[in-house]
Amino acid sequence: METILVTGGAGFIGSNFIHYMLESRAGAIKIINLDVLTYAGNLENLKDVSDRPDYEFVKADIRDKAAVEKIFKDNDIDTVVHFAAESHVDRSIENPGIFVETNVLGTLVLLNAARAAWELKDGSYPDGKRFLHVSTDEVYGSLSDPDDYFYETTPYDPHSPYSASKASSDFLVKSYVDTYHFPAFITNCSNNYGPYQFPEKLIPLIINNALSGKPLPVYGDGKNVRDWLYVEDHARGIAAVLDKGRLGEKYNIGGHNEKENIEIVHIILDTLRELLPDSDPRKELVKDDLITFVTDRKGHDRRYAISPEKIGRELGWKPETDFASGIRKTIDWYLHNEEWLAHVTSGDYQSYYDKMYGQR
Ligand code: NAD
Ligand code: DAU
Repeated sequence: METILVTGGAGFIGSNFIHYMLESRAGAIKIINLDVLTYAGNLENLKDVSDRPDYEFVKADIRDKAAVEKIFKDNDIDTVVHFAAESHVDRSIENPGIFVETNVLGTLVLLNAARAAWELKDGSYPDGKRFLHVSTDEVYGSLSDPDDYFYETTPYDPHSPYSASKASSDFLVKSYVDTYHFPAFITNCSNNYGPYQFPEKLIPLIINNALSGKPLPVYGDGKNVRDWLYVEDHARGIAAVLDKGRLGEKYNIGGHNEKENIEIVHIILDTLRELLPDSDPRKELVKDDLITFVTDRKGHDRRYAISPEKIGRELGWKPETDFASGIRKTIDWYLHNEEWLAHVTSGDYQSYYDKMYGQR
């Protein structure tokens, strides 16, 4: 039985990863989910698995050295999959400090705890111990040549405090590999979408606003390009790296699905109109004239596009969900999970929204 410590498992990608692993590897793994439950962490995402004997939740902060060390002391952790982070670029522009604390210092605490628990006297590590650091394509910066892609060898050029903090954490992980032969992988993934994504991010924000007839804020000219991947395909990519990846390597994960933001907004509006029955009162709120061009994000990266050539060639991974079906599944999920949406948009969400969008 493999014991997997998942950090940030109550967030968007972490909770999807836990669902994927418990469904596909039941009996072979146990998952310990370490999460401090920030505004982005939500145990409702995992309520269907919370009673399983192969799943355990531990509320702890990755910056808390004693708490993290205790988890390693109390459990024979084989694998760490490290998602926990502050993840929203706009918030990093407002408050960079917490991004450095969580994403950089928190990663350092985890690396030290794993190394202390795993390293043998001769500096080697037992077989089967590995640390997978989940990172982002944003560390590579922005592509100006329309035919170019991010490769694993692309130099880092982060622009936002978020991407700078992720780049720093990637370098820390790499330094542990190079200095201590620490058994780690780094994965750099493109934009994810799917169920359980907090509605501060483009896709769920547009769905949520359109359903309530609120303006749909599009930054700048709406022509910035992101490369979208269905979240379960990301989970499968991480699993492939754990199964077959080479220790010390980094792997880009993405599905060649580049779209301008304005195109995404139109696809969401069209799909909502298609999926909502005429009898649903929300249908007549969904209108194109809700689209509102607002002040651009500071330092807004123009285009991201991942080359997933290495993970395809070495590990045989490729995405299974195309955008047309992924966005339908996602929108359908939000339509059927109104209560989830209502819970996460109550409380602090409204003041966040007023502050962020009031100033644009
Ligand atoms: P998220 O914001 O939805 O979830 C982050 C989780 O981390 C939350 O559950 C939160 O409570 C937890 N967390 C935050 N600070 C913590 C702390 N100090 N201690 C313990 N837990 C803490 O983020 P996400 O979108 O699921 O992203 C997960 C990871 O994947 C991040 O590392 C992010 O950089 C990376 N990533 C995200 C995307 C994307 O499109 N969302 C793409 C590529 C990589
Ligand atoms: O590329 C991977 C990254 O994708 C992850 O590392 C980040 O954690 C994740 O948040 C995401 O970052 P982005 O900044 O690309 O995602 P976001 O959903 O915030 O924005 C997507 C695009 O849409 C971006 O060009 C900004 C634009 N946008 C966003 C919001 C929230 C708008 O036009 N209007 C909005 O209201």
